[in-house]
Amino acid sequence: MNKIIVANWKMNPMSIEEAAELARGTDMKKVVIVPPFPFLSRVKDVLKHAKLGAQDVFWTDSGAYTGEVSPMMLVKLGVKFVIVGHSERRNYFHETDETVNKKIHAALTAKLSVIFCVGENKDVRKKGIRHAEEFIRHELQRGLESVAVPRHAKSIIVAYEPIWAIGTGDTATPNDIETMAMFIKEWFRKTFGAQNVPDVLYGGSVSGGSAHAIAKCGGIDGVLVGGASLRAEEFKTIVQNFKV
Ligand code: 13P
Repeated sequence: MNKIIVANWKMNPMSIEEAAELARGTDMKKVVIVPPFPFLSRVKDVLKHAKLGAQDVFWTDSGAYTGEVSPMMLVKLGVKFVIVGHSERRNYFHETDETVNKKIHAALTAKLSVIFCVGENKDVRKKGIRHAEEFIRHELQRGLESVAVPRHAKSIIVAYEPIWAIGTGDTATPNDIETMAMFIKEWFRKTFGAQNVPDVLYGGSVSGGSAHAIAKCGGIDGVLVGGASLRAEEFKTIVQNFKV
């Protein structure tokens, strides 16, 4: 099992110089650094150990789509991973399961590895774990509609990011994390067979303090880190907890 720690910088830092410095300070094996689009090229030049990821992608290779970035553009910049379906994109930019599905198809066709984000909000979670699982199952099914999962199994990573845990300091408990990671893996096993179970990451207020307990959770193959990925020393602590 290959542990993977993804640094989702979101819309940070403010300048290309700061981006290069942060990349230098967090450039480690098993890490994927995911800067904003304008910093990709510079960060790529800095990295010796970590891989490069992008925060989003469009679903065709070129055309009249103002503001969008295509899978091929990313590939040509040396990007290996792309985050698709992050809850911030679903909430603020009205991404739907359908657009997430189109992006997954396009990214896989371009041979990018997809970090497919799923996660329930607080209202769903309050109704209990069964409701949360049902919600996640639905997101998985819709996001992967018509995707040849067995063909692309090695290029699909699922990130379980409960919305209520993102940026709140309210990390899910190890029990919650393990339950959902096992649920996701079981769904893949039943739907696509035992050979086609993806790595599952947890995201949502992962910190230097919580990483140790998360690393021990059954079914968890790594983490997707937001805020703490902007603090090089804390991020290193997180990575060290996932060294196997
Ligand atoms: P935080 O680690 O800041 O809660 O963000 C998690 C996240 O959304 C990573 O994609």
